[in-house]
Amino acid sequence: MPQNPKRYLVTAALPYANGPIHIGHLAGVYVPADIYVRYLRLRNRDVKFICGSDEHGVPITIRARKEGKTPKEIVDYYHSLNKKAFEDFGISFDIYSRTTSKVHYQTAQEFFLKLYNKGVFIEKETEQYYDPEAKMFLADRYIVGTCPVCGYDKAYGDQCEKCGTSLSPEELINPVSAITGIKPIKKKTKHWYLPLDKYEDFIREWIVEGHKHDWKENVVGQVKSWLDVGLKPRAVTRDLDWGVPVPLPEAKGKVLYVWFDAPIGYISMTKELTPEWEKYWKDPETKLVHFIGKDNIVFHCIIFPVMLKEYGEFILPDNVPANEFLNLEDNKLSTSKNWAIWLHEYLQEFPGKQDVLRYALTINAPETKDNNFTWKDFQRRNNKELVGDLGNFVNRVLVLTKKYFDGQIPEKNNYTEIEKETLSQLNSIRQKVEQNLKNFHFRQAVTEAINFARTGNKYLATTEPWKLWKTDKERVKTILYLANQIVASLSTLIEPFLPFTAEKIRKMLNLDQTIPWDDIAKDDLLKPGHKLGEVQLLFEQIPDEIIEAQIQKLKKQAQQNQKTMEQNLKPLKPEISYEDFDRLDMRVATIIEAEDIPKSKKLLKLTVDTGLDKRTVLAGIKQHFKPEELIGKKIVILANLKPRKMMGYLSQGMILMANNPDGSLSFIVPEQDAENGSYIS
Ligand code: 2FM
Ligand code: ZN
Repeated sequence: MPQNPKRYLVTAALPYANGPIHIGHLAGVYVPADIYVRYLRLRNRDVKFICGSDEHGVPITIRARKEGKTPKEIVDYYHSLNKKAFEDFGISFDIYSRTTSKVHYQTAQEFFLKLYNKGVFIEKETEQYYDPEAKMFLADRYIVGTCPVCGYDKAYGDQCEKCGTSLSPEELINPVSAITGIKPIKKKTKHWYLPLDKYEDFIREWIVEGHKHDWKENVVGQVKSWLDVGLKPRAVTRDLDWGVPVPLPEAKGKVLYVWFDAPIGYISMTKELTPEWEKYWKDPETKLVHFIGKDNIVFHCIIFPVMLKEYGEFILPDNVPANEFLNLEDNKLSTSKNWAIWLHEYLQEFPGKQDVLRYALTINAPETKDNNFTWKDFQRRNNKELVGDLGNFVNRVLVLTKKYFDGQIPEKNNYTEIEKETLSQLNSIRQKVEQNLKNFHFRQAVTEAINFARTGNKYLATTEPWKLWKTDKERVKTILYLANQIVASLSTLIEPFLPFTAEKIRKMLNLDQTIPWDDIAKDDLLKPGHKLGEVQLLFEQIPDEIIEAQIQKLKKQAQQNQKTMEQNLKPLKPEISYEDFDRLDMRVATIIEAEDIPKSKKLLKLTVDTGLDKRTVLAGIKQHFKPEELIGKKIVILANLKPRKMMGYLSQGMILMANNPDGSLSFIVPEQDAENGSYIS
């Protein structure tokens, strides 16, 4: 790709319309993409910025089922909510459309047909898991089971969220239907597969060899490990009733896999945006950049490129600057656990402070490793860097100009060494900002942009115009002339990062046009005599109480969530036969002795009279009961459980307990007339 491509096409991952947007989304994908695009626009590049809602896929249908709504109702609601949240935060998409649009259906179907007619797909009939009660095949998140890699017992049919492994339903241990909780049966069904294994060499050459120096290490590394394990054919169709219908007469009731249709959304949305969409997608002089989170790497670096290549005509991405994840107060952001800061809520609580969040997220962007957002850091960044460095500089310059020169830019006199030195520093900072923006190093870029203001502050602190005013008005003119030029430069330099603040500065400077990027660090942007507008504060201090309230709010959210989770009863285990049950020998018994095992945190040592014998049973109930309250208690014991040695004792059996949703335990107590040794049936 030449240094200066003819045009840019920038895409940001299409968020699922099944929940609101939180700060993790913003930090990982949308803020960096927006910074990049705003920078390109300031450089007068031809750029289109594409995004929209991803409205298919199992997470959406599951949510709809849970809430008793239709998938359409769910996506309509979240599409509008998220579209507005992005607008509110200044994410300047050229289009924010949706994958349920007509153009998208046509585009996705046409894409599938072209590959089908070319004979790209493998057609295969296989046995897949089916829920006879819900009458549906169980793909992706409709099936849960134990992860074969890490043992997590709530892994999904497409991925284990604990260890990140990508899975297929067949790999799950003890799979159950996520809808009914029953054990699924196998049923035959036909699907179309993209034979990814055939493209291993192409991907290796293109990314692992070809982009090892200019793409992010995490991206190339992930692609390489996928290739090292070996790619497998991947089904691009599903038996579901929500999605883009497979455009083949023999495929009634089948839809395209969400990860087949969603990236085509980038194309269909460009089509919706401009009749000239083809030049953005097909001319090799277009630079295509996909902004995504790390969980989307395989789709954007392997599956979608293979689709594009097979279709022919299309260009491939020039870069895929995927970010790692953002944590919140040291814990993983989680929609389901309500451990998040939602954009629409932030705006209600911090009206007008979008740029503060944009700043805190950019400077903490998870560019090379997972990173952390804390409210304390947010406060410190605001109070020290935005109020202290940027706001303070701009305010001092404008207030002094109002005071000494009635708000008019003064004439400058001769520059001394310090002016020359300052200008040269500003020039070099501007170059650093540019270099970092081009290389997707947004944290460093924003740090340098604030350094620009710091350099201005240093200039004022060294020249001290407020001290000179009485003795050397001519010198003060020069100082404030230059200081105002620095403010004018800042109004453009910070625009990609802090667009609302940039606009405020332009207004205070009484500029009706944006200063061109190429003029940053020049010293003739505001002519002598130019009249400033009204001065207002750019940022304000955020006091401790406000931050404390946010921290408390998060804790409360987490507690509430914990409560609801605990109220959720454990799903039914898979069905067993009567013979399975009959193998359990459960007896009425009485606890006759109970003592503490000091070395153990959980276990109590009980002696129970089973009617047949008196035996030792170790029970993990220490945190719930005191030994003395147990003596004489009638209980039920599983008596034929294989004895097990624990803490130096042989435990012969297991006491039956109710595990309550709030985490407490209760004994299963037989009525008083039940006798020791009576068996349970
Ligand atoms: O991970 C996600 O949220 C997906 N909805 C991203 C899709 S990106 C694209 F390919 F459409
Ligand atoms: Zn796992």
